[in-house]
Amino acid sequence: MPKVLILYHSQEHGNTHAMADSVGQGAREGGAQVELVNTNEQRLDMESYRSADAVAFGSPDYYSYIAGGLKVFLDDWHIAKSANADGLEDKPYGLFYSHGGGGKVRQPMEQLFARAGRKVGQTIGARGRAGESECAACRQLGRQLAEAVK
Ligand SMILES: Cc1cc2nc3c(=O)[nH]c(=O)nc-3n(C[C@H](O)[C@H](O)[C@H](O)COP(=O)(O)O)c2cc1C
Repeated sequence: MPKVLILYHSQEHGNTHAMADSVGQGAREGGAQVELVNTNEQRLDMESYRSADAVAFGSPDYYSYIAGGLKVFLDDWHIAKSANADGLEDKPYGLFYSHGGGGKVRQPMEQLFARAGRKVGQTIGARGRAGESECAACRQLGRQLAEAVK
C-alpha cells in the first residue's frame, strides 16, 4: 500500500492540524496508508520521509514564513541529501497553510518546498479554521496524492 506522509506544524489553535486531518482522510479514501507528523510534537525521522511515496506539507503562517519545525525538517533534508541519502527527491507533494489574515507564507512555502519533487494540485490556504470548501479541497489533495503514487 503506498504511503502518504503529512508533515505539518500546528500549535496555536489546531487550525493546520484540522487541514492535515482532511488531507489524511482524502489520502485514505484514495487507498493510501497515511502517516501524520506534527513538527510541534516530534522531529521527523528522515527514514520516515525516505519511505514515503508522496508528501503533503502544511504550515501556519508565522511572520510571513513557514513554522520553525518545518524549517528544521528542510535543514535535516538538505544535510541528508548532502550525505547522498536516496529517496529524498522527486516525490509528488502538495501544500497547505493556515493564516491569521496575512497569508504571505504562500510564496516562500511554494519556493522552499519546490525542491521536494513534483507538485500535485493547488496550494490550499485557509484563514483561521478551515471551512467546508477548504476541508473539501484538502480531502481532494489527499486523494490526488494517493492517486499520484498508485
Ligand atoms: C508566532 C506567530 C506568528 C504569526 N504570524 C502571522 C503572520 O505573519 N501572518 C498571518 O497571517 N498570521 C500569522 N499568525 C497567525 C497564525 O498563522 C494562525 O493563527 C494559524 O491559523 C495558526 O495555526 P495553528 O492553529 O495550526 O497553530 C501568527 C501566529 C503566531 C503564533
